[in-house]
Amino acid sequence: MNIKTYLSEKKTLVENALGQFIPPVEEPFTNHLESVHYSLFVGGKRVRPILCLAAGRAVSDDSAIEEKLLPIGCALECIHTYSLIHDDLPAMDNDDLRRGKPTNHKVYGEAAAILAGDGLLTWAFDLIAGAGDSYLSAQQRLQIIQIIARAAGSLGMVGGQALDIENENRQFPFEMLRTIHKNKTGALITASVLAGAVGGNATASQFSALKQYGEQIGLAFQIVDDLLDVTSTTEELGKAANSDASLGKATYPSYFGIDETRKKAQEAVALAIESLKEFDQKAEPLRQLADYIYSRSN
Ligand code: IPE
Ligand code: IPE
Ligand code: MG
Ligand code: MG
Ligand code: MG
Repeated sequence: MNIKTYLSEKKTLVENALGQFIPPVEEPFTNHLESVHYSLFVGGKRVRPILCLAAGRAVSDDSAIEEKLLPIGCALECIHTYSLIHDDLPAMDNDDLRRGKPTNHKVYGEAAAILAGDGLLTWAFDLIAGAGDSYLSAQQRLQIIQIIARAAGSLGMVGGQALDIENENRQFPFEMLRTIHKNKTGALITASVLAGAVGGNATASQFSALKQYGEQIGLAFQIVDDLLDVTSTTEELGKAANSDASLGKATYPSYFGIDETRKKAQEAVALAIESLKEFDQKAEPLRQLADYIYSRSN
């Protein structure tokens, strides 16, 4: 398989589904919904929904499983997009550019940006709750809700973001950096994989292998994000380069330098792929997604 073609096909699938599932811009909430649409449809790699679909496919013989998982994938993208809108706020990373466009608060103002994030987070759970109409059982939806809610909340992404902000301009042991990365980014990525696993009726041993996979690519994802911040350009990234140093954030490159950081990302990717050793050909997209997470340019 060609990973570029795969990614572009799945991205189209996810974006069409988002268009279908997200409330249209209508009265009386026109301005609010416009700001939601602005951030959601402005671009993005759609990595989390794609991981969810690929994980479902890796454990299921149902060739339509990916389409059936689209509401879950879209919910993950809503939560991720909310996290980016809030991450960019002046009180957090204070960024002006996201996905190649001015950040939400630059266009709509801070109050509207906060509310766009709130709306997206809440909508995500509405989507999952309704996702069983044609396919997922109530039990599966409940399990998926819990996996995603735990990962997105105070013991996951939100907690990681809190530690990230609290530790700006501070010296701290490396273990803390790993904790920050694992939570602020790794948790939702792992949950994306596990939500797909539940939707695809993974066995207990497949679930635990996919958990290992998700944790390793989640870590690799943020290590590479740190790397790209120092090795790429604002134009290529669609967000400000060198933003971490200017905010006093500790990163993998600030601890280890660029070469050693690359090695650590490669090691995590190798461990991720290793954890899929019992899986057949249907897990090929997951294997290649792991490589893509390392080799991506934005
Ligand atoms: C950026 O996420 C923020 C992190 C968690 C590192 P992505 O790199 O997935 O951003 P988009 O969705 O493609 O814009
Ligand atoms: C963001 O990490 C993680 C979340 C949004 C949860 P970063 O602050 O490094 O992400 P970018 O670099 O702004 O995309
Ligand atoms: Mg941040
Ligand atoms: Mg940021
Ligand atoms: Mg970053």
